[in-house]
Amino acid sequence: MKHLQIRAKIEKNIEVCPGIYRLTFINRKLAELSRPGQFLMVKVARTPAIEPVLRRPFSIHQVKDDRISILFKVIGRGTENLAKTIDEVDLIGPLGKGYQIPSRGHIALIGGGMGVAPLLFLGQCCRKLKQKGREILILLGARTVAEMPAAEDFRQLGLPLKTATDDGTAGYHGLITDLMEGNMAGGNWSVMTCGPQPMMNEVADQCFAQGWNCQVSLETTMACGMGACLGCAVQGKGRESYLHVCKDGPVFSADQVDW
Ligand SMILES: Cc1cc2nc3c(=O)[nH]c(=O)nc-3n(C[C@H](O)[C@H](O)[C@H](O)COP(=O)(O)OP(=O)(O)OC[C@H]3O[C@@H](n4cnc5c(N)ncnc54)[C@H](O)[C@@H]3O)c2cc1C
Ligand code: FES
Repeated sequence: MKHLQIRAKIEKNIEVCPGIYRLTFINRKLAELSRPGQFLMVKVARTPAIEPVLRRPFSIHQVKDDRISILFKVIGRGTENLAKTIDEVDLIGPLGKGYQIPSRGHIALIGGGMGVAPLLFLGQCCRKLKQKGREILILLGARTVAEMPAAEDFRQLGLPLKTATDDGTAGYHGLITDLMEGNMAGGNWSVMTCGPQPMMNEVADQCFAQGWNCQVSLETTMACGMGACLGCAVQGKGRESYLHVCKDGPVFSADQVDW
């Protein structure tokens, strides 16, 4: 799989919600190579060596012409540095295997918390299928409205969109997975999801019950992001089966995962 190692000039780095930033940079070649669900290994270009040496993984959030954005939450040193940076990022990507957009049937994108990050780019690509009469539904959940960073961008896709918050500050008061049954009655759905593990587990269970295809994007800590360190292994189905999230994924069919 082809990837680039580049230093990219930052166009914008904006705090879109408290502690959540959208960082945009320009690179035409990277924009052309990127596919929804793939990720970038990123760090601040001028970080001294004593700062986190390793790059951090972030999903490709949006691609518009030659502009690429990531959407990230400040967690520790790497993301604190990234939130402060305004000049350049040093990155490798696109990496990993992304979502497979099915050629038939309806499509639901289900995101929870920061799991919405890869789904905007995926929504942009799925929107092109709309003319062919397929239903495309977006379900977004968060703990509270202040942690729902990209709802307006999803709204601008012009696709049916439902939101839910645990505290009822936006949309349905409850879990986003509660909205699956009522909004996805009938038809053959393919579900593509990203979010906290318990949410994806529930999404996968509902899909298994209906016989629907389900793709999940897994998150682990990563050192290399390219299959060299084997540090990103998670248990797959079967005793000796391990999935290496960076190269076998991060997107997997839900039935490959040992939930
Ligand atoms: C394929 C992939 C795609 C990702 N895409 C995104 C994305 O689009 N947006 C985004 O915000 N994040 C994303 N992440 C998570 C992101 O990589 C981590 O949040 C980031 O590496 C944290 O780096 P840090 O240096 O700030 O924190 P660290 O110093 O590495 O960690 C600080 C502390 O937080 C813990 N921690 C690390 N990551 C997380 C986490 N995700 N949640 C809770 N605690 C954590 C660590 O165990 C440690 O205790 C993705 C991860 C993967 C594997
Ligand atoms: S992060 Fe090194 S092999 Fe996956």
